[in-house]
Parts: sequence; structure tokens; C-alpha cells
Amino acid sequence: MGEDPEFGLREGEVAVALPERFDAGLYFIGRIETPWRKRSECPKNPAGSDALCHIHLDPRYAAGLADLDTCSHVIVLYFMDQAPRDIVVQRPRHYGVSRGVFALRSPARPNPIALSVAELIGIDGCVLTVRGLDCLDGTPLIDLKPYFPSIDSKPEAVVGWREGQDG
Ligand SMILES: C[S@@+](CC[C@H](N)C(=O)[O-])C[C@H]1O[C@@H](n2cnc3c(N)ncnc32)[C@H](O)[C@@H]1O
Repeated sequence: MGEDPEFGLREGEVAVALPERFDAGLYFIGRIETPWRKRSECPKNPAGSDALCHIHLDPRYAAGLADLDTCSHVIVLYFMDQAPRDIVVQRPRHYGVSRGVFALRSPARPNPIALSVAELIGIDGCVLTVRGLDCLDGTPLIDLKPYFPSIDSKPEAVVGWREGQDG
């Protein structure tokens, strides 16, 4: 998949020159099957849909799934393969204000790594059924980790710029 042309630079956005070389490589360990074929169909975030999605893990990693079935929620890391990587100040259409990429959950970022905490419904062989994703059908999978409420939950957390806004 190539970059999505919908990601053109908008007024108020800033792009930078990216480094000439990558510093590391990674393995895609599977693909994510979702009902969404276009970005405009995707929920804006994992809370935006109850749809069941299927994570297809490369069978070579099957042994790594041991004990994951005891977990109710899983942190899913995935690669936003259709996003540009050079836009450091962005103006999301639904907010209409420019903000720094590292203050946003935008898929467009230097390393387009996305994360969601998904409810684990079941595991059948190398296919995980989950609820709580927001990516295009076919999005590459980078990693799976157990969600630890004792470590990962921060009920006191604040996103100041977002307060008082809808959507
Ligand atoms: C705002 S991002 C949030 C991603 C993740 N939940 C996170 O917080 O890191 C979700 C949006 O990314 C876009 N998107 C989904 N899959 C993509 C892909 N494979 N490449 C580029 N953009 C994608 C869709 O517009 C979707 O609504």
C-alpha cells in the first residue's frame, strides 16, 4: 500500500526533511483484518466502533501466543502504512487548529506506529478476535502485549488542549 493522497499538506501544517537512512528495521508479524477499506470509513479512535476485528499472526510466531488467552485486553501495535512521515505540525480536519505531532494520535508521524488497547474476545490458532481497533483492512501488525491495568491505567491523566472539545 502507498501513502494516502488524502494526506496532502493543509494550511497551517509543517513538513520536515526526513533523515536519509533508517536507524533500525522491524518485522511485520501479521496483518489486521477490519471492515474498513478507506480511511474515511475508519473510526477516529478505537472507542469509535464495536466492530470485531481479526488479527492474523504469522504462524512462525504461534508459540508466542501462549498464555495470552488469559488476558482480557491486549495492547496492539500496528504500522500506519498509508501515512506520510514528515508532517510535524498538523491541522486535523475535525479540530481545525494546528498542533505538534507528538501531542496528537495522528497516524502521520516520523514512525507511523499506532496503538490501541483492544478487548480480546478469543484466539483460534493464529487468529485473534478483538474489539477496539481503528485501522484499515490489511494494516501490518508490529507487536502484541498484555494490558496491565495496574501499570497502564492512569485515571488522573489529562490532555489539556482537548478539554471542552467534542468529537
Ligand atoms: C487517529 S489514528 C489513531 C491510531 C491509534 N489508535 C493510536 O492512537 O495510535 C486512527 C486513524 O488512522 C487512519 N488509518 C487507519 N489505518 C491506517 C493505515 N494503515 N495507514 C494510514 N492511516 C490509517 C484512519 O483515518 C483512522 O481513523
